[in-house]
Amino acid sequence: MSAIKSLVAIYPGSFDPITRGHEDIARRTLRIADTLLVAVAHTSSQAKKSLFPVEERVEMIREVFRGEDRVEAVAFDGLLVDFARQRGARMVIRGLRAVSDFEYELQMAQMNRELWSGLETVFLAPEVDFSFLSSSLVREVAGLGGDVERFVSPAVLARLNRKLGR
Ligand code: PNS
Repeated sequence: MSAIKSLVAIYPGSFDPITRGHEDIARRTLRIADTLLVAVAHTSSQAKKSLFPVEERVEMIREVFRGEDRVEAVAFDGLLVDFARQRGARMVIRGLRAVSDFEYELQMAQMNRELWSGLETVFLAPEVDFSFLSSSLVREVAGLGGDVERFVSPAVLARLNRKLGR
């Protein structure tokens, strides 16, 4: 009799902050994986100045998924492939919003495969309502006084308001 192994997926990113689009991708992942590690990178491939420190980004994700015991939020340092291997994750999830995302995503997927062939990248399409959404736009709109309530969870909105002194 063959043992059935549980499928651990890893969803890495900057999540600065987590948006409704990220949430949608995470929930879709739970339809195909048993557990999901939402992994917040200390080191991103893109040099970006972050609004929230990594610990706060992790806390926000925990708040958003409170009560969902198949989701774990963690910070990681160094290479994604090393962290995935350490945690027994063999599937990386990335959201693809538009064709413009594809080049960067394919490059990362292929580099990760070169680094560790035991990891498969799976791309998921978000709900169309979120196809324009990104953390950087949320930061920009919120920073300029715009209303981002429908783009993030209440827990994230509260922290954004606090961070921006509202
Ligand atoms: O949300 P982002 O910023 O597009 O996510 C990019 C992220 C964090 C997934 C990528 O930069 C990453 O995997 N960083 C960890 C370091 C690493 O493994 N770099 C090589 C990637 S091919």
